[in-house]
Formats: sequence, C-alpha cells, structure tokens
Amino acid sequence: MVVSPKPLGEASIARVPIALGPRSYDIVIGAGLLGQPQHWPELAGAQTAVVVSNPTVAAYHADALTASLKQRYARCLRVDIADGEQHKNWASIDAITSLMLRMACDRRTTLFALGGGVVGDVTGFAAACYMRGVPLVQVPTTLLAQVDSSVGGKTGINHALGKNMIGAFHQPMAVVCDLDTLNTLPEREYRSGLAEVIKYGVIADSEFLVWLEANMPALLRRDRRALTHAVRRSCELKAAVVASDERETGLRATLNLGHTFAHAIEAEMGYGAWLHGEAVACGMVLASSLSVSLGLVSQAFAQRVKSLIVQVGLPVVPPTMSWAQWASWMRVDKKADAGVIQYVVIDAPGRASVRAVPDALVATVIADASGG
Ligand code: NAD
Ligand code: GLY
Repeated sequence: MVVSPKPLGEASIARVPIALGPRSYDIVIGAGLLGQPQHWPELAGAQTAVVVSNPTVAAYHADALTASLKQRYARCLRVDIADGEQHKNWASIDAITSLMLRMACDRRTTLFALGGGVVGDVTGFAAACYMRGVPLVQVPTTLLAQVDSSVGGKTGINHALGKNMIGAFHQPMAVVCDLDTLNTLPEREYRSGLAEVIKYGVIADSEFLVWLEANMPALLRRDRRALTHAVRRSCELKAAVVASDERETGLRATLNLGHTFAHAIEAEMGYGAWLHGEAVACGMVLASSLSVSLGLVSQAFAQRVKSLIVQVGLPVVPPTMSWAQWASWMRVDKKADAGVIQYVVIDAPGRASVRAVPDALVATVIADASGG
C-alpha cells in the first residue's frame, strides 16, 4: 500500500484523518494541546468527562487536561488505575466502571484515556463495556501510544493465558497527541516507542525507513522537528491501514510485525519485565531473519533493520526459552488459525504479509538469534 506523506509545513498542529465512515475521527498532533480547550471534542449534550490515568502520568499531566475539560463539561471526574502492564486486567476495568456507576455516569459520559498504551487499552475497553459503549478520547502520553496504540480502536486487557486476549474494537472520537507530554517520558520508554516507529518503515514505507536511518540521531535527542515528522508519518501510515481493514481481516495484521514473538516474550518473562516495544524490536529481528530464510528479502535488508534497532539500544537477542515455551505462547496469538501459528513476514522493503511457516524453520531462526 502506498500512502503519500503530507507536506510537513510549519503549522504547529497537524491533523491526520482516519476514514471509517460514521466512526471517522482525527488524530490531532501538536505541542501544548492539553492546555488548549478548543482541541477537546465534546459530544452534544454530554455533561460528564472522566479522565482515566495512572499516578505517574497524572502527577505530570492531569491538571492541565482537567482544567481544559472543566471549560467544556459540567463535571470532570478523575480515576487512576495502577501503573504497569501487569495491571492491564479486570481489576482496572472494575476501578473505572465502579467509579462511573457510583457517580451515576450516563451513556454520553466521555472517557479520556491520559497515558500510555496500558491506560489507553484499559480505558478503551471500559468505554466499550460501560452501558454497552460510551464515547472515548485517547490522549496518548508515550511515543508508543502516540504512534500506535491510541489509533485504530483496539482495546483490551491481558489474561494469564495470553496477552491482549480479552477486548473489543471501540474507536475513539478523537486522538489528541500533545508532543509536550513526551518531555517527561523516561528514556527507556521513549526508545521502546521507537520500535513501533521503525515497524512502519519496514512494513509500509521504505522511504520512511530511509528517513529513519538518516534521522535516528535527531530522534534519539528528541529533536522536535524530527519527532513531529515521525509521529505524523507513523499515524498517517497506521490510519491508512486501519481505514482499509478496521477489523483485521487481512492487511491490518501486518501491523503486528514481530508481535507473535513479542507476545511470547512478554508473557513468558512476566508482563512488564520486557517493555512491549523492546519485545517488538527483538521480534522484528526474528521476523526479518525468518523472511530471509524464506527467500523474501536479502540478508542486507535484515541487517539494516537490525542496525536501526541496535542504534536505538533495543534488544536483538531473545531470552532463553525452549521451543515448547515459544510455541505454547505463540499458539494463543490472535492471528493463529485453527491452532496453526501465523507470522508476519516482510515480502519486500515496505511490504509485508501474513503466513504459516514450518515450525522447524522458525525454531532454527530463534536458535540462531539466541546464539545457539
Ligand atoms: P505503558 O502504558 O505501560 O507506559 C509506559 C510507562 O511510562 C508507564 O510507567 C507510564 O506510567 C509511563 N508514562 C506514560 N506516559 C508518561 C509521560 N508522559 N511521562 C512520564 N511517564 C509516562 O506502556 P506503552 O509502551 O505506552 O504501551 C504498551 C501497551 O500498549 C502494551 O500493553 C501493548 O500491548 C499496548 N499496545 C496496544 C496497541 C493497540 O493497538 N491497542 C498497539 C500497540 C501496543
Ligand atoms: N498495533 C496493531 C494494530 O493496531 O492493529
């Protein structure tokens, strides 16, 4: 799929539309947006806004958002869920929905997910469930959430038997990416988000991959111009994929490059031990090697992907796990078809697809990457 980049321009606010018919919305990208009430959408007749965050993010950013929302809503409530991937669970859904019931929130109550992918996925799922669905606005505050998890309507929680296995599609009314929120993001989290940025270059836009190779030093020092382009281009590419395959019947699955391996790593190591982006980075190295083994791309291309990941300081060597451990987790991946594991492979620079691959080949790729 070819999606032309929009000219960058000097405008401080970019809007990336995501075309989904009656569920269409904009991703708004800019600096200082939390404190600008005019950017906050409002459902006609809505009285109540609920800001869901966690204590870490709320300490930095909740006051600015609630001050803006108080100018648009009669009532602005707040609830924090515990911080961490291990809290992407039913207890967090219960915390949100219990507050909403106690406070007599109605069907027009709008949830604002202020945080990274964990807050976004949990809040989105709570919005999908409360009274069978209430409006949602995503306010992503990690790089990973701004370029990926806040866009496209996938919401959900983890289960002890598999990551992201309980959830719903529930599109937000808007995604508002305030680039200033990234100023407080820890370095390890920022680098983890760069994994998903690299992903778009590998699967959807080989020119963007070249741009990333040239601009990674600027991105690593969080240069605002480079960062704006990376967030915007990533959102444009994701918006195009989601618009053509909202429910993941085909193309959207390619956004999961490396994720089959990554989910196995995250689950086996214990949620939170490896950051999601770290596991995805390692998974992308494995997926690149698999694509080389299948004769789809050159070793030189796989090396380019690996070099970028190394430059960002993300892991390229998987943890020690037996094939039985890998396989047991990968079989509960949502892409699995009748128990057969499906992998995203790179067909060519900037193009990917999904297919089954013989276990022996995958096991060899993992063993080689593990140095075994
Ligand atoms: P996260 O939500 O756990 O956030 C990472 C850490 O950064 C947390 O400790 C958080 O409190 C902190 N933080 C967030 N914003 C901050 C800020 N501005 N300043 C300081 N600290 C801040 O992790 P993540 O990487 O954002 O998201 C990972 C999650 O996203 C995973 O659960 C993954 O499965 C999910 N995900 C979902 C989708 C989707 O389409 N729904 C896509 C990709 C990933
Ligand atoms: N992050 C994968 C997707 O949104 O489909």
